[in-house]
Amino acid sequence: MAISLRTQVGIVGAGPAGLVLSHLLYLQGVDSVVLENRSREYAEQRVRAGVLEQGTVDLLTEMGVGERMKAEGLVHYGIELRFGGRGHRIDFQDLTGRKGITIYAQHEVLKDLNNARIASGGQVLFEVENVSVHDFDGDKPRIRYQKNGTPYELTCDFIAACDGFHGICRPSVPPGILTVYEREYPFGWLGILADAPPSSEELIYTYHDRGFALLSMRSPHISRLYLQCKPDANIDLWSDDKIWQELQIRLASDGWTLTEGQITQKGITSMRSFVVEPMQYGRLFLAGDSAHIVPPTGAKGLNLAVADVQILARALKHFYSTGSRNLLDTYSEVCLRRVWKVQRFSWWMTSMLHRFPDENPFDQRRQLAELDYVTTSRAAAKTLAENYVGLPLE
Ligand code: APR
Ligand code: PHB
Repeated sequence: MAISLRTQVGIVGAGPAGLVLSHLLYLQGVDSVVLENRSREYAEQRVRAGVLEQGTVDLLTEMGVGERMKAEGLVHYGIELRFGGRGHRIDFQDLTGRKGITIYAQHEVLKDLNNARIASGGQVLFEVENVSVHDFDGDKPRIRYQKNGTPYELTCDFIAACDGFHGICRPSVPPGILTVYEREYPFGWLGILADAPPSSEELIYTYHDRGFALLSMRSPHISRLYLQCKPDANIDLWSDDKIWQELQIRLASDGWTLTEGQITQKGITSMRSFVVEPMQYGRLFLAGDSAHIVPPTGAKGLNLAVADVQILARALKHFYSTGSRNLLDTYSEVCLRRVWKVQRFSWWMTSMLHRFPDENPFDQRRQLAELDYVTTSRAAAKTLAENYVGLPLE
């Protein structure tokens, strides 16, 4: 017999979407329980992205979880686009009048959120098993799960599906309800973490004949670098020397040196654009990677997940304070308007900066012309800048 529990909002997944939502609801006086099938240690050391838009930084600060981010995050006011061996800076401050971006690793954000949830008596249950969601087309949805072998049933008013792309919530929506839009890219990213002081103040996005390369960082001592590779590349065939050699070639620029160091982590990620519509069904609300995936070229994944739950938290607050479902009923529509704009930007950055196996010399000239236009036209640079620092929530 399952132990039955009750809460207002049941949240599946303790990634950025689930934890930001749970803490926002707490600050609004709404109860929630977060169910995560991995351990806290695993979630807090998993290497993922690290670029926070201004809107994400402002929200985390308002939520009271921004102290370490402020102290350790690196604030940037621009990025460099590099092609033909020459760099071109996109000046966010000049072009958007707004502040820049903050480099602060996703797993550090999760640590801060977990600490805040635990400190405020929040219920974040790690290492639960066999999570399943039920009756979300009725008015008393339930989440079943096991913890240490004991079955539980959590009854709630709403379920937030924050369980990522490979989660169980989206597949639980009955067939025929969701429409999938997707594009797979014919390449991947080989990413490394290295004990090397970053060779640049700001991120460098590079277009090169041999493929894309990105110089990013995590701290004044740790560099994060990526290079375009085959989608099915075997990481074992990429020795540290070969990786550095390839990065040296692609990032080369007169009078500039790439500092190497011990590679401490390396991995290959596939590249896809993915959206499901609608992002809600009954009392089940999809947020973050459970509803959409962007290629990492625009650094949007984390920020889009946070934007979704900001909209969802506001709609839930409205419901619990007025009884009205208005904002809940338009949640999907409001999120998808922004999701598609961010999908467009991420696809555009990916298309402009990567080599495609089926391209021809015309395409290469066109890509170079696009880079030349973006780095010489104020209007075009402004478009990139306003998307990169983050589009307004609505
Ligand atoms: N039961 C419980 N938890 C689950 C289940 C399940 N069946 N399946 C997945 N999860 C957990 C995962 O372990 C993970 O911690 O859900 C969480 C989903 O988190 P993310 O994948 O990080 O997704 P999201 O919170 O939407 O954040 C999206 O994270 O991965 C980056 O690039 C991505 O930046 C994007 C951001
Ligand atoms: C990162 O620092 O991991 C990073 C930065 C920019 C991107 C993607 C990833 O576009």
